[in-house]
Parts: sequence; C-alpha cells; structure tokens
Amino acid sequence: MKKTLVSIVMGSSSDWEVMQQAARQLQDFGVACDTRVISAHRSPDLLFDYIQEMTAQGVQCFIAGAGGAAHLAGVIAGKTTLPVLGVPMPSKHLNGMDSLLSTVQMPKGIPVATFAIGEAGAANAGLFAVAILALNDTALAGKLTNYRKKQADAIAATTLPALG
Ligand code: RP5
Repeated sequence: MKKTLVSIVMGSSSDWEVMQQAARQLQDFGVACDTRVISAHRSPDLLFDYIQEMTAQGVQCFIAGAGGAAHLAGVIAGKTTLPVLGVPMPSKHLNGMDSLLSTVQMPKGIPVATFAIGEAGAANAGLFAVAILALNDTALAGKLTNYRKKQADAIAATTLPALG
C-alpha cells in the first residue's frame, strides 16, 4: 500500500461533492491521501488528535475545505508547520464569499494558501499538493509537466467556428 502523503479534511460531509475534486487530482497522479470529515467547531478535540496522527504518519501537507465562518484551515495551520491549503466552500447564503474571506484573511504569522471557491479551488489545491510533492519526486514532476503540456496542446489545437 502507498504511503499517505496528503490529508484532505472537510468540515462537513456536505463539502465532499466539492472536495472530491481534490482527491481525484491526487488519485490521477497516483498520490495516496486520507479523506476525513472533521469540524473545527463541532469536534475540535478530534481535529487536534487527527493533525497529530497525520503528522506522525508523515503527510506532507493538509488540504482543508470549509464553508461559512470557515476556520478549519486556519486552525490546522495553527497546529502544524506543514503547508495548509484552504478551499472555501460555496455557501448557501453568501455564495462562498464568507468562506473565502474567512479562509484567506489569516493574520500575519500563520499562513493558509487559499484557493478559489468551489470545485476549481478544490482541484487546484490537489494540483498544488502534487506540485509540493514533485519538488522531491522527479517522476511526479514529469507527470505534472505532461499534464500541463496536454492543456497547452488542447489550446493550440482549438479552432473557432467560422462566422455564419
Ligand atoms: C461548515 O459548515 C462546513 O464546512 C460546511 O461547509 C458548512 C455547512 O455544514 P453542514 O450544515 O452542511 O453540516 O462547517
């Protein structure tokens, strides 16, 4: 079994539809991750235990998705010096602006790398985790270069329909 290198945490099972995009990216690159629902405010003790457990297992970064008053990523960042990638969830009342500002506006000293609201942010957090791991893994770096090349090739091959 592959060693777990990334932890994906989310505040609620309702975040999974979005956060699975992060897990999919990691899966596509062959990176093993742990996926968990743990809330910073509903189960803070469990969160602290989990961070300790994952750190001891040797994960290289945490991806945290939360919505509303989204403090999950910030709390994780307060308990570890590993990189923490925050993904703001689209929320019911403010369309994720609350989640974005809660995640991105970390006071100086405890950084959270914050991504776009929703699926694009989750997928990019997964890709960013791959980029972190690729710093010390040439095979993974090669896969990432290939992934980028496919996107460039697709753009280069794009043609627009003629005017009617
Ligand atoms: C946050 O509250 C979660 O991250 C989720 O985005 C939001 C709503 O949670 P549920 O009420 O759907 O459990 O803690």
